[in-house]
Amino acid sequence: MKITALINKLPQEGQLASLPRPYFNHSVELKKAFSSKDRAEVLARVGLNVFFFPSEMITGCDLLSDSGVTTMTNEQWASLHMGDEAYGSNRGYFAIKDQIKKTFGDVFFNEPGTGEPNAFIFHQGRTSEDALFTQIGKIGKNLIVPSNGHFDTTGANIEANQMQALNLFADELTEGEKGFHFKGNMNIERLRTLLEKAHDRVPLVYMTITNNTAGGQPVSMENIVEASSLAHEYGIPFFFDACRFAENAWFIQQHEDGFGDMDIKDIVLKMFSCVDGFTMSYKKDGLANMGGGLFLRADGLFMKKYQNIPGVLLDYQILKEGHPTYGGLSGRDIMALASGLATVTDQEYLTYRINQVRDFGEGMHARGIPVVMPIGGHAVYVDVNSFFQNTKMKPDDFGGVALCAVLLAAYGHRACELGYFTFGHFDKVKKVEILPEVNFVRFAVPRLRYEKQDLDAVAEAMKILHAHREEIPGVRVTYGRELSLRHFKAKFEFKS
Ligand SMILES: Cc1ncc(COP(=O)(O)O)c(C=O)c1O
Repeated sequence: MKITALINKLPQEGQLASLPRPYFNHSVELKKAFSSKDRAEVLARVGLNVFFFPSEMITGCDLLSDSGVTTMTNEQWASLHMGDEAYGSNRGYFAIKDQIKKTFGDVFFNEPGTGEPNAFIFHQGRTSEDALFTQIGKIGKNLIVPSNGHFDTTGANIEANQMQALNLFADELTEGEKGFHFKGNMNIERLRTLLEKAHDRVPLVYMTITNNTAGGQPVSMENIVEASSLAHEYGIPFFFDACRFAENAWFIQQHEDGFGDMDIKDIVLKMFSCVDGFTMSYKKDGLANMGGGLFLRADGLFMKKYQNIPGVLLDYQILKEGHPTYGGLSGRDIMALASGLATVTDQEYLTYRINQVRDFGEGMHARGIPVVMPIGGHAVYVDVNSFFQNTKMKPDDFGGVALCAVLLAAYGHRACELGYFTFGHFDKVKKVEILPEVNFVRFAVPRLRYEKQDLDAVAEAMKILHAHREEIPGVRVTYGRELSLRHFKAKFEFKS
């Protein structure tokens, strides 16, 4: 029998229940050994705030964030060596310029000397937000910036400039509708009502892809087009918070009619054809450890409407970060992120990456843990209220904070509360907690870092904690309840 005849008879490689990863380990780091007693002591010392817990003591998975924690490819490591640390127009500047144009479109990077400056490199996503909203905040009074879900730093940057950051979550998210794939969508009806009533107070409409605040859920192309057209009907620029653009494009390809045969790169170009600008943290879908940027469409509404802003942004960038051709990044970091940006739209990488997160989430679900379904692109979100349903846990016991602390101490896995504590605030006058709509613990999966076995261990640990949920005590805030961005700074202790 010819070998090909035999192969044709066998199940095809893609049909097997276990598939190999589309990459292999390039270098590894051995973990140090610590006991749950060691971790509990240190955690108590840092006021149960998991951000202050030493990462070297994490014996399990560090799922605090997917940001800046990517394992880099060997092309990226090689490109680091090609870093050129010249003060002006280093090699990385040309690499990133070419890659931005390829990935998002030529209109997002004017060649120096041709047209207004429209591409601003920054060292993080939030620095780009700061640059943008510092200028937008000066346009008028009582401004509102609506979004399908502002990230915490985005909301904080908007509010620091005396504007209101308004979240218009999709009904499908808040109503928990099952089987709907685009729960990250903008609530178009609420956006329409807002614009009918107050369009003169809206300087731009913002859309986060995927929607980190709303369970990491993606946004459909239909919703992008609708939100963009609606904003444009009122003469308002439309922007992306584009951190996870490639993951969002993958969901469109897999779940939206008409995109199944389209290449990820073309879907990305179509998505970005709808926006007048975007902010970006390369620490997610740049596969980089550092980097950010603000990009304005050369022929877009923002550039037409706010003609003086690009020039001011350029000065701002020089004052705060450095020459526009390196924008606060070392030449080697720029090389690594240009290389990462080229890799992130790879079909096999994205399929593996998102399916890994899905399998992790479905593993939790199968173990009885209430997770937001369907699973989003970069993280699994546990619904804290359902987790503690029918227990003594009260909203201001901050069950999500308590759950993260117990998980870290007992099993060495780090997750992060994105719920009543992170997004809520303390009303100093009424002395009550103002609660947000969502109450999650997020398990963000770093790119290219963990294997199935690691993530299974987290799901197993969560199953045990769920079985013992009655015994998990709430926390008391001992410091920082009334502070802004309090989750980064606060301290807690267990109530009993
Ligand atoms: C949706 C979103 N926007 C903005 C940011 C801020 O990016 P950076 O951490 O680079 O400042 C993040 C970071 O996690 C994010 O998830």
